[in-house]
Amino acid sequence: MALPSLLPTYTPYGFPLVAGEADRVFDDQGNEYLDFYGGHCVASTGHCHPAVTTAIAAQARKLIFYSAAAQLPVRNLAAARLVEFAGAGMASVFFCNSGAEANESALKIALKLTGRKQLAAFQGAFHGRSLLALSVTDAPGLRKDYQDFLAPTRFLPFADPAALAAADFSQVAAVIVEPIQSMAGVKTANAQWFAQLREKCSAAGALLIFDEVQTGIGRLGAPFAAQLYGVAPDMITCAKGMASGVPMGGVLMDAAVAAALGPGDLGSTFGGGPLACAALLATLQVIEDEKLMPQAARLGTQIRNGLQGGMVQKVRGEGLLLGLNAGPNAKALKAHLLQDRILVGGSDDPQVLRLMPPLNVREESVNRLLTSIAAFRAAGIAA
Ligand SMILES: Cc1ncc(COP(=O)(O)O)c(C=O)c1O
Repeated sequence: MALPSLLPTYTPYGFPLVAGEADRVFDDQGNEYLDFYGGHCVASTGHCHPAVTTAIAAQARKLIFYSAAAQLPVRNLAAARLVEFAGAGMASVFFCNSGAEANESALKIALKLTGRKQLAAFQGAFHGRSLLALSVTDAPGLRKDYQDFLAPTRFLPFADPAALAAADFSQVAAVIVEPIQSMAGVKTANAQWFAQLREKCSAAGALLIFDEVQTGIGRLGAPFAAQLYGVAPDMITCAKGMASGVPMGGVLMDAAVAAALGPGDLGSTFGGGPLACAALLATLQVIEDEKLMPQAARLGTQIRNGLQGGMVQKVRGEGLLLGLNAGPNAKALKAHLLQDRILVGGSDDPQVLRLMPPLNVREESVNRLLTSIAAFRAAGIAA
């Protein structure tokens, strides 16, 4: 039997996607799907936003690539703009290509600067599949073949003040946390817990890393969760939506971390390439011009309100990173939505579906989603 030329590491939808526009994607028969999955939280400004495609095309005509060996005005501008957008005490950014690479780099920085050999993370965390990122990822199935190569990591219960109070970070280089645990089923913590975490890390000399690969770049209605919860971490990692789908990752860091690093400490051939930087600049501009952060907050509330009292038992999350707990009906609801040509995400919690649409998802699309979920209930499919 001939093996597939594309290694089947994922189980994709049963239809081939060939195009996208705003909050919709299209299959090869011209069928339209509403994208509440956002290409896995990536299509921040929607698919193929004209400002983004124009910026990419213009940059491609000028210079597709040059490495960090050269100074590039577009790279310097993108760094300055991202640092300004981030606020939260961030002073510099290191550009790379993915969420895993951003977390891998942030953890390496922490190991280097503290000289310590332990890491801490939270139960249910997902931070990526490279070896340090996997070390802080609580997914036994992903870790089992690599145990000997993973860094020593303590996993604490998420959002548990008593467990945090009892933890000892005196030998810990970094504590890494997703401000909202997305893959785990969109689990949230409150501002007090983040303040306690900040205090605890500072007192023990452990660096605090916010993994904002999903929560960053405006998705929660604020530039990053760091602002939303009023916490200044030592580093913030980002990726996914930062360049509207052009592969890009970043490690934002405060002045103390930045001042301790210099030439040779980090590197990445493609990191901060001109196409990605042009796409990042366009993405941040669209978010600002189209006021997408307040819109994300407003539409998130609208979805929550629209689902209240229905078969979705509980909605968790912030802005446009939402987890719908549909109990034992979650799988059937996902299938029903797909039949209505609405894409949503699953999670590690079989009862929770995730919504992470473009920040400029249209009001009429939100209404279609709510109508489809209501029809699922009306049809008596729900138990
Ligand atoms: C919170 C979080 N961190 C890190 C990653 C890894 O990102 P990437 O797949 O770009 O390596 C992901 C991917 O889903 C993620 O959700």
